[in-house]
Amino acid sequence: MIKFLVTGGGGFIGANFVRLALTEGWGAVLNLDKMTYACHPGTLAMLRRYPNYQFVHGDVGDRALVADLLQTIQPDAVIHFAAESHVDRSINSPQDFIQTNVVGTANLLEEVKAYWQQRPSREQDTFRFIHISTDEVYGSLGPTDPPFRENTPYAPNSPYAASKAASDHLVRAYHHTYGLPTLTTNCSNNYGPYQFPEKLIPLMICQALAQQPLPIYGDGQNVRDWLYVEDHCRAVYRVWQKGQPGQTYNIGGNCEKTNLEVVQTLCDLLQTRYPQPNVNYHSLITFVGDRPGHDRRYAIDASKIQQELGWQPQETFTSGLTKTVEWYLSHQDWVQAVRTADYSAWLASHYGSTLSAPH
Ligand code: NAD
Ligand code: DAU
Repeated sequence: MIKFLVTGGGGFIGANFVRLALTEGWGAVLNLDKMTYACHPGTLAMLRRYPNYQFVHGDVGDRALVADLLQTIQPDAVIHFAAESHVDRSINSPQDFIQTNVVGTANLLEEVKAYWQQRPSREQDTFRFIHISTDEVYGSLGPTDPPFRENTPYAPNSPYAASKAASDHLVRAYHHTYGLPTLTTNCSNNYGPYQFPEKLIPLMICQALAQQPLPIYGDGQNVRDWLYVEDHCRAVYRVWQKGQPGQTYNIGGNCEKTNLEVVQTLCDLLQTRYPQPNVNYHSLITFVGDRPGHDRRYAIDASKIQQELGWQPQETFTSGLTKTVEWYLSHQDWVQAVRTADYSAWLASHYGSTLSAPH
């Protein structure tokens, strides 16, 4: 059986990947996760139900721990999701992003290289290090610019994007210099089950259910290219199966929407699926101050992964968003458990007193 070492498998995309790997028989998984605020205990509990799954609480930057895990489980692939991932938090505390996304990835690469160099040559050939990155490394598009391609120059604008760009460059260098079989994926905005409600879609769902304001930055006309998380996870698996070492692959949903459109669609869905007495969800929409340096538009040209690896998304925005809303409605226990003092403190410090935590 294939053995994956997955980093950050307690977070949103990592957990969806691990669940699919275990339920669809992709392989056995060891999940290494630091359990930051973004790692929900209910998500880890869901994963514990499956056979062929192990969890280790630890930091990707802990070289002794990583070396020990690699020697013990001898994985066929490392799938590196672990990161600090929220742009707004990177504006407040960039150091955490530099530590995990840059230094943590550098330390992980160094230990993976040492492990890989000791493998017999047949296993060296099949080993893969898959680095999960973002479209934000390419910067911001104008309204009529063509979507990002793999050869679009890097122009990261937030501390988060800069830290991911730095890690992408390290991954590239470990392939070029040492021959480590690395592949990098640059994906657009994901949505779906198990996403921490600091990101746009789950934040809006949770706020709406609690009849609280839905805060839209600036004029609401910033554009993102939305992809259902399971489609992203299947793309990563396809890259592991068929991708060429040293290559990068853009992954996107071909689904550009303004933030206002996204929130209005969510309000319409909730109005039919979860009507509450005397509540018009649209009336909760509240325009707030803009994010500093807010990138105006992202869009991905995913033709390389479509043509070379035969991947394309299965969900439309309507089907994916409906599944997402249904998941949050049927996992109120998960939502309630997020409402820690830390979460309320984040909402209060970031949005100010006009936006109180859902209760
Ligand atoms: P997330 O914030 O939901 O989860 C991150 C996980 O990594 C958490 O479980 C956290 O505990 C863990 N982690 C953080 N620091 C760690 C460390 N030092 N060592 C071990 N574990 C650590 O993030 P996500 O949204 O699931 O994103 C996963 C990856 O995908 C990230 O690399 C992100 O940059 C990338 N990405 C995300 C999106 C998106 O829309 N969410 C889109 C494109 C790319
Ligand atoms: O593009 C991929 C990236 O998508 C990933 O690399 C990041 O990890 C992920 O967080 C996401 O970044 P964004 O900044 O695009 O996602 P976020 O959900 O934070 O915001 C989406 C859009 O919604 C963005 O234009 C900002 C806006 N927004 C966000 C929040 C949290 C609001 O208008 N109000 C909000 O309260």
